[in-house]
Amino acid sequence: MTDRIAKPFLKWAGGKTQLINDIERFLPTKITKRKFTYIEPFVGSGAILFWMLNNFPNLKKAVINDINKDLINTYKIIASNPNELISILQILQKEYHSLEGNEDNKKEYYYQKRALYNARKEEQSGLAALFIFLNRTCFNGLYRVNRKNEFNVPMGSYKNPTICDKENILAVSEALQKVEILCGDFEKTLDFAENNSLFYFDPPYKPLSETSSFNSYSKDEFNDSEQIRLRDFCNKLDLLNHTWILSNSDVKGKDENDNFFDDLYSDFNIQRVEAKRNINANSEKRGKLTELLITNQVNNKEYVRAI
Ligand SMILES: C[S@@+](CC[C@H](N)C(=O)[O-])C[C@H]1O[C@@H](n2cnc3c(N)ncnc32)[C@H](O)[C@@H]1O
Repeated sequence: MTDRIAKPFLKWAGGKTQLINDIERFLPTKITKRKFTYIEPFVGSGAILFWMLNNFPNLKKAVINDINKDLINTYKIIASNPNELISILQILQKEYHSLEGNEDNKKEYYYQKRALYNARKEEQSGLAALFIFLNRTCFNGLYRVNRKNEFNVPMGSYKNPTICDKENILAVSEALQKVEILCGDFEKTLDFAENNSLFYFDPPYKPLSETSSFNSYSKDEFNDSEQIRLRDFCNKLDLLNHTWILSNSDVKGKDENDNFFDDLYSDFNIQRVEAKRNINANSEKRGKLTELLITNQVNNKEYVRAI
């Protein structure tokens, strides 16, 4: 048992911590005042998942999914075998910290662990530990793979980064006990929806420009036809009377003639919210942007504070 509150154990592109207050305004009390199931089909580092698990006692079950197998393996290992994972991470942390001050040795260590990870011959807990190690030590915590699913992010420049946060891993492990963990395409989460379910979708964002394209979390691209397939899935959920909230980039903020999402989701409720995004390596470009929060709830009065 641990008293710590579980928080995301990874840095992840598009982490949603900044959007929590806005999402909270969208939460339908008609769902959260009763026992409910929370479903997050694109979980990433799970910022909203952990916030929901920590703040909503009526959340009786959660279902999470992501297409990234190595990410989902890490969730599963934390849920089932946190102590073995912690032991491996403690060794990696000790070894890596002992090289502090010697950049060449640090580099050699990092690239050796990256190659080990890419060989994917380790057992599952070893792979999960390498996944966390690379996330903590690579450039900006990015996750990017090539067509062969090889992780190709260079080393970052952190001094003594925390690689093993034992207390948080134990807290996450405890919190995950009521979470069903799936790996695959977002559509298969429908099989897990129950009567009083809430879906939150945070898909790879549609890039605002060619150079800001930052959605290679996995070897499969999430292009416009994928965005349309997601909208079709949202339509289907709506017809089945399930409630959903979805976030995405506001392409219209960049180009006022770009009505891609306004057209796609014209049958639903679209709101624009301010959000800071930290994925840009160049801090000058990290400004305020608007993002979209879209929902199939019709009545604005339902967006009252949930806690
Ligand atoms: C914007 S990120 C989610 C960020 C997350 N909300 C957070 O707080 O870290 C999008 C996620 O969608 C996953 N993904 C991409 N295509 C997918 C698909 N077809 N089905 C399910 N997940 C997918 C990616 O692996 C990535 O983790």
